[in-house]
Amino acid sequence: MSPSPTGEVLISSERLAGRVTELGAQISRDYADKDLVMVGVLRGAVVFIADLLRSLDVACEIDFMAVSSYGSSRDSSGVVRILKDLDDSITGRDVLIVEDIVDSGLTLNYLMRNLRARDPASLEVCALLTKPERRRVDVPIRYTGFEIPNTFVVGYGLDHAQQYRHLAHVAELPEDVDPGSGTR
Ligand code: IMP
Repeated sequence: MSPSPTGEVLISSERLAGRVTELGAQISRDYADKDLVMVGVLRGAVVFIADLLRSLDVACEIDFMAVSSYGSSRDSSGVVRILKDLDDSITGRDVLIVEDIVDSGLTLNYLMRNLRARDPASLEVCALLTKPERRRVDVPIRYTGFEIPNTFVVGYGLDHAQQYRHLAHVAELPEDVDPGSGTR
């Protein structure tokens, strides 16, 4: 059985649902006349993109990428490797990258450069969580769910060593767990 963290609940499932509904409405307005493809970044964004998708009332396709950063998840190195690429072309399409959390910003910076080179009509980012204090490179985030302090969090798709993704809320990792071995 998966362990249950005793860390403090940072964002309840009710607050998550409310914010996802708001983001969905905003994205639906902004992309009403566009050719939207949401690109989910595996694996952490799976829960978020599934809820976000159901809150849209515009036509939308989804695709996925999996990337791994060298270094521990606590300290991204900025050297990113593509483990799974998109299945379809994004040339001429309106691409919205859907991320679980932006920490240093290095992964997202790499992803944006990589996807921009494929000539999409537009390229924007929707991140459920962001930790502004940890930012090492400036990345433009068009849609943000919640800004959180510099703390390691799990739940709603986010993991520590592949655990806790199933939690319906976002919780702080208990203090006695070393976040150094976290994975995407
Ligand atoms: P960045 O390149 O430093 O912005 O790292 C972003 C990635 O690190 C995210 O997509 C997550 O996979 C991972 N990450 C960063 N902070 C956390 C956290 O608090 N909990 C779980 N994963 C995290």
